[in-house]
Amino acid sequence: MRDEKKAFIRFKENNHQNSAVPQAVLGDDFRINWANRAFRDLFHRENTCIGEHIAGFATLTGLDGRSLYHQLKDPATGYSFQGNGESRFHHHPRLFTNVHIVPILHEPYKKETVVGYCAYFHDATLSHQQSLRAIFSSLLEASRMKDNDTGRHIERVNRYSALMAESMYDDGTDLQVDRDFVDNISFLAAMHDVGKIGVPDDILNKAGPLESWEWEIMTTHTLNGAYILGAYPDPMAVEIARSHHERWDGSGYPYGLMEEMIPLSARIVTIADVYDALRSKRSYKNEMSHREAADLILLGRGTQFDPELVEIFRSLEEKFSEIYDELYDEYKETNSSSPLAG
Ligand SMILES: [Fe+2]
Ligand SMILES: [Fe+2]
Repeated sequence: MRDEKKAFIRFKENNHQNSAVPQAVLGDDFRINWANRAFRDLFHRENTCIGEHIAGFATLTGLDGRSLYHQLKDPATGYSFQGNGESRFHHHPRLFTNVHIVPILHEPYKKETVVGYCAYFHDATLSHQQSLRAIFSSLLEASRMKDNDTGRHIERVNRYSALMAESMYDDGTDLQVDRDFVDNISFLAAMHDVGKIGVPDDILNKAGPLESWEWEIMTTHTLNGAYILGAYPDPMAVEIARSHHERWDGSGYPYGLMEEMIPLSARIVTIADVYDALRSKRSYKNEMSHREAADLILLGRGTQFDPELVEIFRSLEEKFSEIYDELYDEYKETNSSSPLAG
């Protein structure tokens, strides 16, 4: 057996199957030669992953514009990589990792030969998610201070949207709806009106109907929201803010998008948002019963709303009503002046 091969095998034997650190040993072609239990658990693999390319497990960032291949073959980098990884799965939330890949060297006669690599992964999902969500929740709080008409509206919109997405995930009818989609929409639906922070107070809180020029400014909350949420790493945030007033028949704003041109996330939030706005009491309107609101949603099938989503709404409408009752707001006269909340 060649010395390089022996060095490689020795390295693998020294790595413990039971190590808590997820790790994989790669050949010099970056294919997995060995992986421990923690690695397979992290990537939700029941069975072996031997022979698979490491690039199939995570999209790596931190490559200085080079490919992983060039970085790991370069003596100047010490044949190593340090950066972040992102992995998506259909049945599990997105995974964020800190990744280190180091060479396994064989050094006969002081001449280095890379015989393989060891890749270590540290699960950073929780800290990543927590800091991200903390920042965007503060943003949401800031926008609520300006548009304080909405009470628990945004909480309910999150819940209805999650309910619809969850049901689509269970049915498996749309491949776009994976675990991550459900998880994201249940946080991001609440952000739909964050762009109202850019609408002047006298328009936002005007008691009577808006003039057409005022209405035009009001509609910019969709684009403002998209601009503000552009920093969010998942495009769903921008999609919801930008497109939650689009209509299935193309008569909505800001772009008059039609049917499936409107992102799925926004089509879901539209139904959730409108249902809740119909049910809620405002200074300019009374609250509607569940039946009245649900009938209006059914009536909007194919004009305002995606017909397939309306069918899903129909199958879940009792649960919509339960969520509304569970998170019911006591209406306060003093706290409710915006004619356009919802
Ligand atoms: Fe809106
Ligand atoms: Fe709303």
